[in-house]
Amino acid sequence: MLIAIDGPAAAGKGTLARRLADHFGLALLDTGLLYRAVGMNVVRGGGDPNDAAQAIEAARALKPADLTADDLRVDAAADAASRVSAVPEVRAALLDFQRSFAANPPGGGHGDVKGAVLDGRDIGTVVCPEASAKLFVTASAEVRAERRYLELRERGLDAIHGRVLADMKERDARDSERAVSPLEPAKDAFLLDTSDLDADQVFAAALNFINENK
Ligand code: DC
Repeated sequence: MLIAIDGPAAAGKGTLARRLADHFGLALLDTGLLYRAVGMNVVRGGGDPNDAAQAIEAARALKPADLTADDLRVDAAADAASRVSAVPEVRAALLDFQRSFAANPPGGGHGDVKGAVLDGRDIGTVVCPEASAKLFVTASAEVRAERRYLELRERGLDAIHGRVLADMKERDARDSERAVSPLEPAKDAFLLDTSDLDADQVFAAALNFINENK
């Protein structure tokens, strides 16, 4: 079983991916972490994530241990990820890792692993077009910015609502307008707008779609 979940930032992909992986006993790969790790490796080395050559070098040198760095969740990492991810050679360098994870999902000591859930921007369209279920999870930019703002405040971080919304729209535009593997739903994806749904309702709708299409 292979579940592909795509969509813009803060639409609820991560929470849904985790719940589906737990429910079906599947391995989980948050592919955004790969791009975040590449971006932060450039930034930490004093480089510029807008420089394609530096981004390509970092992507080719990426090691599994880089995915556990503790600064990958900060906004600077999201921003750097969004920039390096527009470079075709960066995407190509990360493709093998994602495909082999999907083909041979690693067990985590939780018993038999029966497949994988991958979440990102191009899983249903490019990485795993053969996925058994494809979900495109979205929500309005205003709702996603509000969720992100509340999350930042909860973590005790200073955040300005207007700034969070502007950053969200900027990242949406960059991810959707790039030439290679832009953010877009696969033709056979189930479109799930989470603007007016809570996490339980999102999970129930996704489960319903997956079970009906098994
Ligand atoms: O899902 P995320 O917010 O962690 O992703 C960070 C950035 O990485 C996102 O703005 C675009 C890029 N990304 C991508 O291009 N393709 C993916 N499959 C996952 C993420």
